[in-house]
Amino acid sequence: MKPLPRIVQAETLDGLAEDDPDAMRSRRDLRRVHRVMGSCSMLSRILRAWALPRGRALRVLELGAGDGSLMLRVARALAPRWPRVELTLLDRQALVGPATLRRYASLGWTATTSRTDVLDWAAAEPRADAGGSGPRWDAIVANLFLHHFPERELAGLLRAVAARCDHFVACEPRRARSALVASHLIGAIGANAVTREDAVLSVHAGFRGRELSALWPADGSAWTLRERPAGAFSHCFHAVREGPG
Ligand SMILES: C[S@@+](CC[C@H](N)C(=O)[O-])C[C@H]1O[C@@H](n2cnc3c(N)ncnc32)[C@H](O)[C@@H]1O
Repeated sequence: MKPLPRIVQAETLDGLAEDDPDAMRSRRDLRRVHRVMGSCSMLSRILRAWALPRGRALRVLELGAGDGSLMLRVARALAPRWPRVELTLLDRQALVGPATLRRYASLGWTATTSRTDVLDWAAAEPRADAGGSGPRWDAIVANLFLHHFPERELAGLLRAVAARCDHFVACEPRRARSALVASHLIGAIGANAVTREDAVLSVHAGFRGRELSALWPADGSAWTLRERPAGAFSHCFHAVREGPG
């Protein structure tokens, strides 16, 4: 059977205002989708395995962070190992509430939000996004985010990511017939019309094989790249810079 071609189309949620009731409901649906996909455990497992600097706060950036609730679950899983984290939640919409920020604080993580289009972030000078103290994030994370972008934008985005961190992970929809079938059945977990439509679009825009590795820049650094199907419906890519970054 021929592999599904990659088709990127605008998702319904992205066209809705932050306070649109259908959008709010769809973001709540997304939390159930994360549970079905096992997103928190996949991300936590990959992040936990990284050898990150000790003795200072880690600087972590999430791209397309949404309401910050998935990363909060990841933070709960990682806080015993990563007690001090300066986390930036970047999204082009302002979706993270004060209660979520307080929950991060209770774990010892300082979370701040950045309402920014990621393509502007990618186009900006690296130093500008790091509080003036250097261009590097210890880790950059993305979940259900990269699939929003066609290859050309994605290549530029991954170039910016590689220039600004030593560790990167993305968990995305798997572009596979089994995932497509499941996306058509997502109403079974009570998903609304926005989520039902976007789930199908997301699978068509998802990834397979080594597609993200092929877009990762050859920037002169040695990177270890891993890309593989994960869980029943996900496709995970992670990149670790070897040696001093
Ligand atoms: C499917 S949601 C995933 C949210 C979160 N990562 C999660 O897994 O719950 C995609 C998010 O990407 C954001 N987004 C889409 N295009 C963006 C862009 N160009 N720049 C920044 N954020 C963007 C949307 O606002 C939305 O919050």
